[in-house]
Amino acid sequence: MSNDKLSVALFGFGCVGQGLYDVLNHSEVFQADIARICVKDPAKERRVAASLITFDKEDILNRNDIDVVVEMITDTEEAYRIVSRALGSGVNVVSASKKMLATYFSELHELQEKNGTALIYEGSAGGSIPIIRTLEEYYDNELLSSIRGILNGTTNYILTRMELEGRDYGEVLKDAQQNGFAEADPWSDVAGYDTLYKTLLLSIHAFGIVLKPDEVLNLGIQNISFADIRYAREKGLRIRLIGFAAKAGDKFRIYVLPHFVKPDDELYKVQYEYNGIEVEGAYSCKQTFTGKGAGSHPTGSAVLSDISALTYNYKYAYKKLNKLRRQRHEQGQTGNDLSLLDKDFTLKVYIRFKSKDELARLDIRHVEEEYRSPEVNFIIAEVGFSSLYALRDDIGQNLFVCVVA
Ligand code: HSE
Repeated sequence: MSNDKLSVALFGFGCVGQGLYDVLNHSEVFQADIARICVKDPAKERRVAASLITFDKEDILNRNDIDVVVEMITDTEEAYRIVSRALGSGVNVVSASKKMLATYFSELHELQEKNGTALIYEGSAGGSIPIIRTLEEYYDNELLSSIRGILNGTTNYILTRMELEGRDYGEVLKDAQQNGFAEADPWSDVAGYDTLYKTLLLSIHAFGIVLKPDEVLNLGIQNISFADIRYAREKGLRIRLIGFAAKAGDKFRIYVLPHFVKPDDELYKVQYEYNGIEVEGAYSCKQTFTGKGAGSHPTGSAVLSDISALTYNYKYAYKKLNKLRRQRHEQGQTGNDLSLLDKDFTLKVYIRFKSKDELARLDIRHVEEEYRSPEVNFIIAEVGFSSLYALRDDIGQNLFVCVVA
């Protein structure tokens, strides 16, 4: 790779692609030539020279003068095909596709090792917040005890507006969609999948543990109602959707759940589409990173920073991952990392329900508070995590679960 001016090819020219294009054009120090942009829809008007656009991925993947492929498309399978082809043919890749990265992490890691290529993806988690390289480079895993983050701008925006405007979930969601904020299909955001993919990527760089999306619990805010916000408000709390990963002895506790947060919690102050990530270490104590978690220019700037990092041959060393693998090997442990996921603990949770039968699937150990009325029923109870974990396949439409700190 030439170290002065990179030849860059883009896949996708949507929100992030256009943001990257703008920040790249405004960068006075960083030089890169956009050689080609591959897009899907020939009918769409683009604000770049037609000669730059192609609809055929082969126009890029068959060239041998591209230094970096930047992948920013929404089709997970196609993104995986493009990224693996590029890595396999010796081209470094920057990607912002969190679902693709979390789903195919093991395969992509192997491809990097085999071909000596780099795949970096700061824009995939936390938007503009430089968290992946920070976890990878700065924190030693011996000392890092937990990460907890608001990693999804859409849900935080919805939660903030419900609370500040006293409005119900359906209304705010509709409004957010009409204003072009939430996706036309917001399921991945509201059901916690987007937060899950990002939590899995952060867990790899924080602790070295590699889990698949269907191995980790994610409950979102899809069943929230204003009654839950009102309850939080009365107690002086806020509800936030949090991705959590922490060491627990030799194992790890990892999940995505709504949480009540207190005013002295840094995540309480994270409003609207902002993201916030709290990292806790034995000696560093708590540190919180906040910034815009979504949007064209913030994510584009994270992607630009990755492209720039490739000019000095940066690649993730996967220090924590390699160390964990070495340790597991020495201990004679085989198989995937799922055995490292701790499910044997209890969480204190608020559960709003319609009918008591809906609680039958839960391992409720101790009820601390119970409230019944014609409008709202809820309990606050210590619940066995495994039974919550089982809800990830189907939480139904009536239960809202929120962690009580
Ligand atoms: N849908 C995502 C969010 C986009 O709302 O945070 C950024 O990853």
